[in-house]
Amino acid sequence: MRRMSLFRLKALAATGCLALLLTAPVLAAEASYVGSETCLGCHDDLEAGFTASLHGKAWAAEGVYEESGCEACHGPGSAHVDDPSKETIITFGEDSMQSADQQSDACLACHSASQEIALWDMGMHAKREVSCSSCHSIHKGYSPLAAMPETCYGCHLDVKIEANKASRHPIREGEVGCNDCHNPHGTLSKAQIRDESTNQLCYQCHADKRGPFLWEHAPVEKDCSSCHAPHGSRHKKLLTQRVPNLCQSCHERHGVYDKERVFTGSDPSRFAYGRSCVNCHQNIHGSWAPNRRGAKFFK
Ligand code: HEC
Ligand code: HEC
Ligand code: HEC
Ligand code: HEC
Ligand code: HEC
Ligand code: HEC
Ligand code: HEC
Ligand code: HEC
Ligand code: HEC
Ligand code: HEC
Repeated sequence: MRRMSLFRLKALAATGCLALLLTAPVLAAEASYVGSETCLGCHDDLEAGFTASLHGKAWAAEGVYEESGCEACHGPGSAHVDDPSKETIITFGEDSMQSADQQSDACLACHSASQEIALWDMGMHAKREVSCSSCHSIHKGYSPLAAMPETCYGCHLDVKIEANKASRHPIREGEVGCNDCHNPHGTLSKAQIRDESTNQLCYQCHADKRGPFLWEHAPVEKDCSSCHAPHGSRHKKLLTQRVPNLCQSCHERHGVYDKERVFTGSDPSRFAYGRSCVNCHQNIHGSWAPNRRGAKFFK
């Protein structure tokens, strides 16, 4: 995305439009406020929709143009009224003359106090020139809230593919939203998850896995994602690999569980029955069972 806008910058420079790009926001700043009624004189197709929208309703009783009308987002419009073109007003979206940051600033003028949005500058979206209006639509419907997961899938096709695999978090079913695990605006954590670590995030909904256990399975304490894919997998229970391959990626040559001896030959060991280690080692996330039984994660 950064590359695209650099490209756009170069293209504009080549056609001599760079000066325009740089002066557009300045033009708006030099203009004065004219009021929504003036705007709607020409943009009457937007009136019904805007009046019925959350922003429109919130401001219905107010008369301060800077804070309560079209110009609260689009900037003062006198220059645009004199010369109606896209260059004389703040616009939003990919084709805008304003940078993604400038577009977002128009919204942050009012929304920066929200705790949800406080870390916007830290987030990947701000860094990759995704702006507020990439997810929120002001002129469509009553609420500008984003439709999920469709809005996200527009850019995160890889996650869409994962979240539609046979084993998945019920995202498609609408029971879990991207927003439950991520703050799309920004966080201090990796991948903008809503907790300090993957494990803490998982415990929010899978409290039974939190422990503490008498017998801990080291990789479980360390990182749930050493065995589970968070969005979805083609192996059951969101596993990154199927059992026994998963277990053997760490426990490969281990006494009687030696890969070659257990699963080959005409008389395979009873330990390999059904090829499922978890038939016996059932409490794979940790156990309270006494002594050796617990230590080996049996019931
Ligand atoms: C005199 C008529 C007129 C008035 C008044 C007017 N506009 Fe416009 N506006 C236009 C025209 C015509 C265009 C289309 C320019 C183009 O397509 O190049 C436009 C374009 C726009 C755009 C860009 C649309 C796009 O496709 O990106 C925005 C945003 C906009 N106006 C907002 C406003 C606001 C806010 C006000 C009030 C401050 C306002 N307009 C007042 C005629 C008007
Ligand atoms: C809360 C911020 C906000 C307010 C208030 C607002 N707009 Fe917009 N406007 C946007 C954004 C963002 C877009 C880009 C498309 C979208 O997200 O819906 C946009 C798009 C537009 C467009 C071009 C696209 C289209 O739908 O034709 C015009 C013209 C426009 N606005 C005019 C107006 C007018 C006139 C008003 C007042 C009645 C107004 N806007 C109030 C944020 C705002
Ligand atoms: C002049 C102040 C102002 C500006 C500028 C503004 N908003 Fe708002 N916004 C509000 C108010 C007031 C509400 C009504 C609900 C509330 O009190 O939070 C609101 C509501 C919202 C909501 C819904 C919140 C909810 O809980 O349902 C979203 C999303 C939103 N705005 C996004 C935007 C975006 C995106 C922009 C920029 C294109 C923008 N706003 C610009 C004042 C503003
Ligand atoms: C990557 C997509 C995305 C971007 C970019 C984004 N938002 Fe949001 N925003 C969401 C989602 C998802 C929610 C959760 C509610 C919903 O829309 O269903 C939300 C919620 C909100 C809310 C209501 C919740 C609250 O507690 O305040 C506001 C206001 C808001 N966003 C404003 C903004 C502003 C301002 C920006 C730009 C600085 C922005 N958003 C950028 C996706 C996004
Ligand atoms: C307009 C495109 C766009 C939309 C829409 C979008 N994203 Fe993103 N998102 C990006 C880009 C670009 C990145 C940067 C990393 C990359 O290139 O994948 C990113 C990164 C992320 C990251 C990883 C952050 C990190 O630190 O690695 C998460 C999580 C994310 N987005 C969640 C969401 C969610 C949830 C939604 C829907 C509410 C959403 N995105 C909507 C473009 C988008
Ligand atoms: C159950 C929690 C959960 C849900 C629901 C969820 N995610 Fe994630 N997501 C994670 C975790 C955990 C990571 C971090 C993986 C890592 O880096 O260790 C992640 C990573 C990501 C990343 C960055 C790495 C990558 O895989 O590309 C993106 C982008 C992302 N998620 C987008 C989304 C979107 C879009 C949705 C909704 C369709 C979504 N996530 C739903 C937990 C979740
Ligand atoms: C917002 C709540 C939430 C969070 C956070 C969450 N999950 Fe889940 N998880 C669910 C729900 C709901 C189900 C479906 C339960 C059901 O169908 O009985 C589920 C199911 C699962 C399943 C079983 C899937 C199956 O096929 O039966 C696994 C494994 C799982 N989650 C692992 C994780 C991991 C690992 C994390 C951390 C990255 C995590 N979850 C975070 C809500 C959550
Ligand atoms: C060493 C690999 C491994 C790690 C690490 C791991 N799991 Fe699992 N998990 C499994 C296996 C294997 C199954 C399937 C058990 C079965 O099929 O009976 C499973 C099943 C699940 C299930 C669905 C069945 C149930 O017991 O509820 C959930 C939920 C789950 N894990 C959550 C987590 C969470 C949360 C973490 C991190 C705290 C985690 N797992 C870490 C291997 C692991
Ligand atoms: C990411 C690596 C990893 C994966 C995957 C993994 N384990 Fe482990 N496992 C460990 C580590 C590390 C220990 C602790 C070893 C020690 O204390 O000597 C351990 C301990 C154990 C123990 C107790 C060993 C003892 O000597 O008491 C059993 C039983 C066990 N794992 C079974 C499994 C099974 C079954 C699976 C597959 C569902 C599995 N493990 C997947 C890393 C892993
Ligand atoms: C039929 C039941 C059964 C199956 C199936 C089984 N195990 Fe075991 N496993 C045991 C028993 C019993 C012990 C304890 C041996 C002891 O206490 O000396 C054990 C011990 C272990 C240990 C601890 C190290 C050791 O040698 O004592 C590991 C690691 C282990 N199993 C991993 C696995 C893996 C990986 C699989 C799948 C390939 C698997 N087990 C399948 C019953 C089983």
